[in-house]
Amino acid sequence: MAAQLLRTVEDARAFTRQVRARGQRLALVPTMGFLHEGHLSLMRGGKERADVCAATIFVNPAQFGPKEDLSRYPRDLDGDLRKCASAGVDAVWAPERAQVYPPGYQTYVEVTELSKGLCGERRPGHFRGVATVVAKLLALFRPDVALFGEKDFQQLRVIQRLNADLDLAVEVVGLPIVREPDGLAMSSRNSYLSAAERQRALSLHRGLKAAQALCGQGVVTARELVGAVRAELEREGAGVRPDYVELVDSETLAPIIRVADQPARLLVAAYVGSTRLIDNLELREPSE
Ligand code: PAJ
Repeated sequence: MAAQLLRTVEDARAFTRQVRARGQRLALVPTMGFLHEGHLSLMRGGKERADVCAATIFVNPAQFGPKEDLSRYPRDLDGDLRKCASAGVDAVWAPERAQVYPPGYQTYVEVTELSKGLCGERRPGHFRGVATVVAKLLALFRPDVALFGEKDFQQLRVIQRLNADLDLAVEVVGLPIVREPDGLAMSSRNSYLSAAERQRALSLHRGLKAAQALCGQGVVTARELVGAVRAELEREGAGVRPDYVELVDSETLAPIIRVADQPARLLVAAYVGSTRLIDNLELREPSE
Protein backbone atom coordinates (compact mmCIF):
# COMPACT_ATOMS: atom_id res chain seq x y z
CA MET A 1 0.00 0.00 0.00
CA ALA A 2 1.20 3.53 -0.74
CA ALA A 3 2.44 5.54 2.21
CA GLN A 4 0.25 8.51 3.17
CA LEU A 5 2.00 11.78 2.23
CA LEU A 6 1.88 14.42 4.96
CA ARG A 7 2.98 17.96 4.13
CA THR A 8 2.13 20.31 7.00
CA VAL A 9 2.52 20.37 10.77
CA GLU A 10 -1.26 20.07 10.96
CA ASP A 11 -1.17 16.94 8.71
CA ALA A 12 1.38 15.37 11.06
CA ARG A 13 -0.73 16.23 14.15
CA ALA A 14 -3.90 14.80 12.58
CA PHE A 15 -2.01 11.62 11.70
CA THR A 16 -0.56 11.08 15.19
CA ARG A 17 -3.96 11.88 16.78
CA GLN A 18 -5.49 9.04 14.75
CA VAL A 19 -2.71 6.62 15.67
CA ARG A 20 -3.11 7.40 19.37
CA ALA A 21 -6.91 7.25 19.20
CA ARG A 22 -6.56 3.70 17.90
CA GLY A 23 -4.21 2.88 20.78
CA GLN A 24 -1.42 1.97 18.38
CA ARG A 25 2.33 2.14 18.96
CA LEU A 26 4.13 4.58 16.68
CA ALA A 27 7.68 4.31 15.29
CA LEU A 28 9.46 7.28 13.70
CA VAL A 29 12.39 7.24 11.24
CA PRO A 30 13.81 10.73 10.50
CA THR A 31 15.74 11.05 7.21
CA MET A 32 16.91 13.59 4.67
CA GLY A 33 15.69 11.42 1.80
CA PHE A 34 17.41 9.96 -1.28
CA LEU A 35 16.74 6.71 0.50
CA HIS A 36 18.87 3.56 0.38
CA GLU A 37 18.89 0.19 2.15
CA GLY A 38 20.36 1.78 5.29
CA HIS A 39 17.27 3.97 5.67
CA LEU A 40 14.96 1.10 4.74
CA SER A 41 16.48 -1.14 7.43
CA LEU A 42 15.44 1.50 9.99
CA MET A 43 11.90 1.56 8.58
CA ARG A 44 11.58 -2.22 8.69
CA GLY A 45 12.96 -2.06 12.23
CA GLY A 46 10.24 0.46 13.04
CA LYS A 47 7.51 -1.82 11.74
CA GLU A 48 8.91 -4.68 13.85
CA ARG A 49 8.77 -2.56 17.00
CA ALA A 50 5.48 -0.70 16.51
CA ASP A 51 2.04 -0.96 14.84
CA VAL A 52 2.55 2.10 12.68
CA CYS A 53 5.76 3.52 11.18
CA ALA A 54 6.15 7.11 10.03
CA ALA A 55 9.20 8.44 8.21
CA THR A 56 10.23 12.04 7.69
CA ILE A 57 12.09 13.44 4.69
CA PHE A 58 13.52 16.89 5.29
CA VAL A 59 16.88 18.25 4.17
CA ASN A 60 17.46 20.28 7.29
CA PRO A 61 19.22 23.56 6.47
CA ALA A 62 20.15 24.14 10.13
CA GLN A 63 22.66 21.26 10.09
CA PHE A 64 24.60 22.36 6.98
CA GLY A 65 27.56 24.75 7.17
CA PRO A 66 27.72 27.74 4.79
CA LYS A 67 30.21 25.95 2.49
CA GLU A 68 28.50 22.54 2.63
CA ASP A 69 26.26 20.74 0.13
CA LEU A 70 22.76 21.92 1.17
CA SER A 71 21.82 23.24 -2.28
CA ARG A 72 23.04 20.16 -4.16
CA TYR A 73 21.98 17.50 -1.64
CA PRO A 74 20.33 14.73 -3.76
CA ARG A 75 16.52 14.58 -3.80
CA ASP A 76 13.98 12.11 -5.25
CA LEU A 77 10.64 12.35 -3.44
CA ASP A 78 8.72 10.07 -5.84
CA GLY A 79 11.36 7.33 -5.65
CA ASP A 80 11.56 7.76 -1.86
CA LEU A 81 7.78 7.36 -1.45
CA ARG A 82 7.89 4.10 -3.41
CA LYS A 83 10.78 2.82 -1.29
CA CYS A 84 8.97 3.81 1.92
CA ALA A 85 5.88 1.90 0.79
CA SER A 86 8.01 -1.16 0.00
CA ALA A 87 9.46 -1.05 3.53
CA GLY A 88 5.95 -0.93 5.03
CA VAL A 89 5.99 2.74 6.05
CA ASP A 90 2.47 4.04 6.71
CA ALA A 91 3.05 7.78 6.41
CA VAL A 92 5.80 10.11 5.20
CA TRP A 93 6.09 13.69 6.44
CA ALA A 94 7.89 15.74 3.77
CA PRO A 95 7.46 19.34 4.90
CA GLU A 96 8.48 22.58 3.22
CA ARG A 97 11.15 24.50 5.08
CA ALA A 98 8.63 27.04 6.47
CA GLN A 99 6.68 24.25 8.20
CA VAL A 100 9.77 23.43 10.27
CA TYR A 101 11.30 26.91 10.55
CA PRO A 102 8.49 29.47 10.11
CA PRO A 103 9.32 33.19 10.13
CA GLY A 104 10.36 34.26 13.62
CA TYR A 105 11.79 30.83 14.51
CA GLN A 106 14.48 31.18 17.20
CA THR A 107 14.70 28.06 19.37
CA TYR A 108 17.75 25.75 19.17
CA VAL A 109 18.83 22.66 21.07
CA GLU A 110 22.48 22.11 21.96
CA VAL A 111 23.94 18.91 23.38
CA THR A 112 27.08 20.56 24.64
CA GLU A 113 29.69 17.89 25.42
CA LEU A 114 28.89 15.08 22.97
CA SER A 115 28.80 17.60 20.11
CA LYS A 116 32.35 18.81 20.74
CA GLY A 117 34.80 16.37 19.13
CA LEU A 118 34.90 14.32 15.92
CA CYS A 119 32.40 15.62 13.33
CA GLY A 120 31.24 18.35 15.75
CA GLU A 121 34.70 19.88 15.77
CA ARG A 122 35.00 19.81 11.96
CA ARG A 123 31.42 20.90 11.23
CA PRO A 124 30.67 23.77 13.65
CA GLY A 125 26.95 24.05 14.37
CA HIS A 126 26.14 20.73 12.68
CA PHE A 127 24.91 18.90 15.78
CA ARG A 128 23.02 21.97 17.00
CA GLY A 129 21.07 21.73 13.74
CA VAL A 130 20.60 17.97 14.08
CA ALA A 131 19.56 18.16 17.75
CA THR A 132 17.12 20.98 17.02
CA VAL A 133 15.32 19.24 14.17
CA VAL A 134 15.25 15.86 15.91
CA ALA A 135 13.89 17.41 19.12
CA LYS A 136 11.17 19.07 17.00
CA LEU A 137 10.33 15.82 15.20
CA LEU A 138 10.12 13.89 18.48
CA ALA A 139 7.93 16.63 19.99
CA LEU A 140 5.62 16.74 16.95
CA PHE A 141 5.19 12.97 16.48
CA ARG A 142 5.72 11.86 20.09
CA PRO A 143 6.65 8.36 18.85
CA ASP A 144 7.04 5.36 21.16
CA VAL A 145 10.24 4.44 19.38
CA ALA A 146 12.59 6.31 17.02
CA LEU A 147 15.24 4.60 14.94
CA PHE A 148 18.66 5.89 13.87
CA GLY A 149 21.69 4.32 12.19
CA GLU A 150 25.08 3.64 13.77
CA LYS A 151 26.51 4.99 10.49
CA ASP A 152 26.24 8.43 12.12
CA PHE A 153 27.54 7.25 15.47
CA GLN A 154 28.11 10.63 17.12
CA GLN A 155 24.67 11.75 15.94
CA LEU A 156 23.12 8.66 17.59
CA ARG A 157 24.79 9.49 20.91
CA VAL A 158 23.73 13.16 20.66
CA ILE A 159 20.11 12.12 20.05
CA GLN A 160 20.11 9.60 22.91
CA ARG A 161 21.41 12.34 25.21
CA LEU A 162 18.84 14.96 24.15
CA ASN A 163 16.06 12.40 24.54
CA ALA A 164 17.19 11.69 28.11
CA ASP A 165 17.95 15.31 29.01
CA LEU A 166 14.64 16.69 27.70
CA ASP A 167 12.61 13.84 29.28
CA LEU A 168 11.13 12.94 25.92
CA ALA A 169 10.81 9.28 26.99
CA VAL A 170 11.19 7.94 23.46
CA GLU A 171 12.85 4.56 23.03
CA VAL A 172 15.82 5.55 20.84
CA VAL A 173 17.09 2.54 18.91
CA GLY A 174 20.42 2.44 17.02
CA LEU A 175 20.73 -0.10 14.19
CA PRO A 176 23.90 -1.43 12.50
CA ILE A 177 25.49 0.10 9.40
CA VAL A 178 24.17 -1.32 6.13
CA ARG A 179 26.95 -1.74 3.56
CA GLU A 180 27.30 -2.36 -0.16
CA PRO A 181 28.51 -5.91 -0.97
CA ASP A 182 32.12 -4.60 -1.20
CA GLY A 183 31.93 -2.99 2.26
CA LEU A 184 31.26 0.67 1.43
CA ALA A 185 28.84 2.09 4.01
CA MET A 186 25.65 3.15 2.23
CA SER A 187 25.15 6.91 2.12
CA SER A 188 23.06 9.33 0.07
CA ARG A 189 26.36 11.18 -0.52
CA ASN A 190 27.86 8.15 -2.33
CA SER A 191 25.92 9.45 -5.36
CA TYR A 192 28.50 12.28 -5.59
CA LEU A 193 31.36 9.81 -6.24
CA SER A 194 32.82 9.12 -9.69
CA ALA A 195 33.67 5.48 -10.51
CA ALA A 196 37.33 6.06 -9.58
CA GLU A 197 36.38 7.83 -6.32
CA ARG A 198 33.95 5.01 -5.51
CA GLN A 199 36.93 2.60 -5.60
CA ARG A 200 39.08 4.89 -3.43
CA ALA A 201 36.22 5.23 -0.94
CA LEU A 202 36.61 1.54 -0.07
CA SER A 203 39.80 2.48 1.82
CA LEU A 204 37.71 3.71 4.79
CA HIS A 205 36.14 0.32 5.39
CA ARG A 206 39.38 -1.53 4.50
CA GLY A 207 41.24 0.55 7.09
CA LEU A 208 38.65 -0.16 9.80
CA LYS A 209 38.71 -3.90 9.01
CA ALA A 210 42.52 -3.91 9.14
CA ALA A 211 42.37 -2.30 12.59
CA GLN A 212 39.73 -4.79 13.71
CA ALA A 213 41.95 -7.69 12.60
CA LEU A 214 44.90 -6.21 14.51
CA CYS A 215 42.73 -5.76 17.60
CA GLY A 216 41.73 -9.43 17.36
CA GLN A 217 45.46 -10.26 17.48
CA GLY A 218 45.92 -8.24 20.65
CA VAL A 219 47.05 -4.91 19.18
CA VAL A 220 44.95 -2.55 21.30
CA THR A 221 46.65 0.84 21.41
CA ALA A 222 44.97 3.81 19.74
CA ARG A 223 48.29 4.74 18.14
CA GLU A 224 48.55 1.42 16.27
CA LEU A 225 44.84 1.04 15.45
CA VAL A 226 44.51 4.62 14.19
CA GLY A 227 47.79 4.12 12.31
CA ALA A 228 46.36 1.07 10.54
CA VAL A 229 43.37 3.07 9.27
CA ARG A 230 45.55 6.00 8.21
CA ALA A 231 47.91 3.63 6.33
CA GLU A 232 44.98 2.32 4.22
CA LEU A 233 43.79 5.86 3.48
CA GLU A 234 47.32 6.96 2.56
CA ARG A 235 47.63 4.13 0.02
CA GLU A 236 45.12 6.08 -2.08
CA GLY A 237 47.52 9.05 -2.26
CA ALA A 238 46.02 12.50 -2.80
CA GLY A 239 42.66 10.97 -3.80
CA VAL A 240 41.71 10.43 -0.15
CA ARG A 241 42.30 13.14 2.46
CA PRO A 242 41.75 12.03 6.08
CA ASP A 243 39.65 14.42 8.19
CA TYR A 244 40.02 12.45 11.42
CA VAL A 245 40.64 8.91 12.65
CA GLU A 246 39.91 8.44 16.36
CA LEU A 247 39.46 5.71 18.95
CA VAL A 248 36.82 6.69 21.52
CA ASP A 249 34.76 5.27 24.35
CA SER A 250 31.57 3.98 22.75
CA GLU A 251 29.30 5.66 25.32
CA THR A 252 30.96 8.99 26.16
CA LEU A 253 32.87 9.43 22.86
CA ALA A 254 35.88 10.53 24.94
CA PRO A 255 39.21 9.69 23.28
CA ILE A 256 40.86 6.56 24.73
CA ILE A 257 44.44 5.40 24.40
CA ARG A 258 43.71 1.68 24.25
CA VAL A 259 40.86 -0.80 23.83
CA ALA A 260 40.17 -2.18 27.29
CA ASP A 261 37.14 -3.69 29.02
CA GLN A 262 34.67 -1.01 27.82
CA PRO A 263 33.36 -1.17 24.22
CA ALA A 264 35.39 1.17 22.02
CA ARG A 265 34.52 2.74 18.68
CA LEU A 266 36.96 3.53 15.91
CA LEU A 267 35.69 6.35 13.71
CA VAL A 268 36.95 7.73 10.44
CA ALA A 269 36.02 10.75 8.31
CA ALA A 270 37.78 11.44 5.02
CA TYR A 271 37.39 13.47 1.86
CA VAL A 272 37.30 11.38 -1.30
CA GLY A 273 37.74 14.09 -3.90
CA SER A 274 35.41 16.77 -2.58
CA THR A 275 32.97 14.31 -0.95
CA ARG A 276 33.22 13.87 2.80
CA LEU A 277 32.51 10.30 3.93
CA ILE A 278 32.31 8.76 7.41
CA ASP A 279 32.43 5.21 8.73
CA ASN A 280 33.01 3.45 12.06
CA LEU A 281 33.34 0.08 13.78
CA GLU A 282 33.04 -1.31 17.29
CA LEU A 283 36.22 -2.75 18.80
CA ARG A 284 36.33 -4.99 21.84
CA GLU A 285 39.22 -6.24 23.89
CA PRO A 286 40.22 -9.66 22.51
CA SER A 287 39.10 -12.47 24.84
CA GLU A 288 41.83 -14.70 26.24
P1 PAJ B 1 20.21 10.81 6.76
O1 PAJ B 1 21.65 11.00 6.43
O2 PAJ B 1 19.21 10.78 5.66
O3 PAJ B 1 20.09 9.49 7.60
C1 PAJ B 1 18.86 9.13 8.17
C2 PAJ B 1 19.09 7.95 9.11
O4 PAJ B 1 19.60 6.85 8.35
C3 PAJ B 1 20.15 8.27 10.17
O5 PAJ B 1 19.74 7.71 11.42
C4 PAJ B 1 21.39 7.58 9.64
O6 PAJ B 1 22.31 7.18 10.64
C5 PAJ B 1 20.76 6.35 8.97
N1 PAJ B 1 21.68 5.77 7.98
C6 PAJ B 1 22.31 6.42 6.96
N2 PAJ B 1 23.11 5.55 6.30
C7 PAJ B 1 22.99 4.35 6.90
C8 PAJ B 1 23.56 3.06 6.70
N3 PAJ B 1 24.43 2.83 5.73
N4 PAJ B 1 23.20 2.06 7.54
C9 PAJ B 1 22.34 2.28 8.55
N5 PAJ B 1 21.76 3.47 8.80
C10 PAJ B 1 22.07 4.49 7.99
O7 PAJ B 1 21.08 11.50 9.52
C11 PAJ B 1 20.31 12.26 8.97
O8 PAJ B 1 19.73 11.99 7.76
C12 PAJ B 1 19.90 13.59 9.58
O9 PAJ B 1 20.97 14.09 10.33
C13 PAJ B 1 18.61 13.50 10.45
C14 PAJ B 1 18.80 12.57 11.64
C15 PAJ B 1 17.43 13.06 9.59
C16 PAJ B 1 18.29 14.91 11.00
O10 PAJ B 1 18.14 15.83 9.99
